[in-house]
Amino acid sequence: MKVALGVSGGIAAYKAAEVVRLLQDRGIRVQVIMTQGAQQFVRPLTFAALSGEKVITDMFAAGGDENSQPNIDSAIEHIAVAQSIDALLVVPATADILAKFAQGIANDFLTTLYLATTAPVVVAPAMNVNMWSHPATQANLELLRQRGVRIVAPGDGYLACGMTGPGRLAENDLIVAAAMEGLAASQELAGETVLITAGPTRERIDPVRYLTNRSSGRMGYALAEAALRRGARVLLVSGPTSLTPAGGAEVTRVESAEQMRQAVLKLLPEATIVIKTAAVADFRPQRAAEQKIKRKGAMSLELELTTDILAELAHSKRSQIIIGFAAETENVLENARKKLMSKSLDAIVVNDVSREGVGFDSDRNAVTIITHSEVIEVPETTKWEVAQRVLDQAVRLRKVPQAT
Ligand SMILES: Cc1cc2nc3c(=O)[nH]c(=O)nc-3n(C[C@H](O)[C@H](O)[C@H](O)COP(=O)(O)O)c2cc1C
Repeated sequence: MKVALGVSGGIAAYKAAEVVRLLQDRGIRVQVIMTQGAQQFVRPLTFAALSGEKVITDMFAAGGDENSQPNIDSAIEHIAVAQSIDALLVVPATADILAKFAQGIANDFLTTLYLATTAPVVVAPAMNVNMWSHPATQANLELLRQRGVRIVAPGDGYLACGMTGPGRLAENDLIVAAAMEGLAASQELAGETVLITAGPTRERIDPVRYLTNRSSGRMGYALAEAALRRGARVLLVSGPTSLTPAGGAEVTRVESAEQMRQAVLKLLPEATIVIKTAAVADFRPQRAAEQKIKRKGAMSLELELTTDILAELAHSKRSQIIIGFAAETENVLENARKKLMSKSLDAIVVNDVSREGVGFDSDRNAVTIITHSEVIEVPETTKWEVAQRVLDQAVRLRKVPQAT
């Protein structure tokens, strides 16, 4: 197990030295990365001596030797480190680092590593009390939280700046416990291949028009990122969306329900877990017109049923765990339970899309996860959190063979 320990430029930078030792006591390799700011407080030599590894201090001269020439190894080191670590821990995390992470600024090694890694990220902020309570810092923290970054809240007390209040670096045991949680999570889906479908489908009416629905794809994309962070290989079959998939996901882009069906059936043998969040069209025009249909007067569109991919999966699957999503507007739980049984699913995640502000086209969701033995309510929260709860169930279902 390997942790990248980022140290940024706060007065508490010296405390990170003890964290190196505590992690090593647990058999974890530690690669320290220091920002320029951190080097104003502590010399890299301290961390090199403690960790027994070269400390990364610069993006362009990896190794920290001012005279060394950038070479191809150093140029790609941030990617190599990103791929080799099981967690990224930042102690202390300055207001500046939190802002850069939140905004995706990548102007030094640590901030670039944050964007490049799919490993779990844990930050332990420490700063002056006013910097901590500033709306900008709080907004950045909220954004990071929504994206799954674990935040070890600072303690309350006397600060180096002479003020009293929140902002003091959390105690080391709390920081190490959060890092260990991140590490455990990073392994939960190791060896699993998770096939995720996301987004809407488009069913052509003519060359310029189509039938679609309000699905944004956010739920599936959040699941893809969360599964990657738990160590899974992720196959993402996506309908048209404006979202950028997490780096590391193997993406197949499709448009129609039929294309989605074919992609899913092709990838199914590789998958151990299938999570179907896509809002696949139930109906498509019987015949797509070859030319644009002229505006002549009222017209009617003959629709036919598309193939039910979930039902088909139930017949084609071998040992895979299959989790379906259902958007319902009435008799929500009853309808979901029927689908769980009739489609031989291992779990169904149902959301009531008649509710304002959650579900389709929103960052938030409120769902009920129904398995054959449990009903788990997930009250309104971010789609990232919902993704975590769904993956918790996937992990449990993989451990306990299901009789469906
Ligand atoms: C003496 C001193 C102490 C500082 N302590 C902190 C601190 O505890 N937390 C913080 O967020 N910034 C602190 N700063 C400000 C940061 O060093 C500054 O924002 C810097 O740009 C951070 O760079 P980095 O995030 O790349 O390490 C301090 C600055 C000085 C001069």
